[in-house]
Amino acid sequence: MSQRTLVLLKPDAVRRGLVGEILGRIEQKADWTISALELRRLGRELLEQHYAEHVGKPFYEPLVEFMSSGPVVALVVEGERVIEGVRALAGPTDPIAAAPGSIRGDFGTIVRENLIHASDSEESAEREIKIFFPGLA
Ligand code: PPS
Repeated sequence: MSQRTLVLLKPDAVRRGLVGEILGRIEQKADWTISALELRRLGRELLEQHYAEHVGKPFYEPLVEFMSSGPVVALVVEGERVIEGVRALAGPTDPIAAAPGSIRGDFGTIVRENLIHASDSEESAEREIKIFFPGLA
C-alpha cells in the first residue's frame, strides 16, 4: 500500500549534525522516495496549526518553544507503508524507552529533544503535508 507521510527532523537533529544520518536511514529503505524537502525555521502560527490536537497538554508550550528554537528539515516521504515504517525507524516518543537501532534509541535521551516527527495516520499525513507543502498535489 503506497502512502505518503510528513517527516520533520527537529531542531536538535539539525544542531547535532544528524540530518545526513537520519535521511540516510530513510533513503536506504527499498522503494521509498523523498518527494519534497526543505530546511526552514517554523513560526508559532504554523506550529499552532501543526500541533492543534495537543493544545492544553502540559508538554504543548515546551514543545512549541523547542520546535521554534532553530531550523528543522521538513520532508515528504512516499512509498510502501511509509507511515508505519518511518515511525518504526524513529522508535517511541521517549528515547530512553526506544530500542537501540531506532533513531531515538540510538541518539536521544530526553523526551522533548526526540529528533524526529512523523505523521501517525493517513489523515494526519494529508493534513500536515498541506500545512508544510501547500503547493504539493
Ligand atoms: S499524545 O498525548 O499521546 O498524543 O502525545 P505523544 O504522541 O506522545 O506526543 C505528541 C507530541 O508531543 C511531543 N512530546 C513532548 N514534547 C516536549 N516535552 C514532552 N514532555 C513531550 N511529550 C511528548 C512528542 O514528541 C510529540 O511530538 P511530535 O512532533 O509529534 O513527535
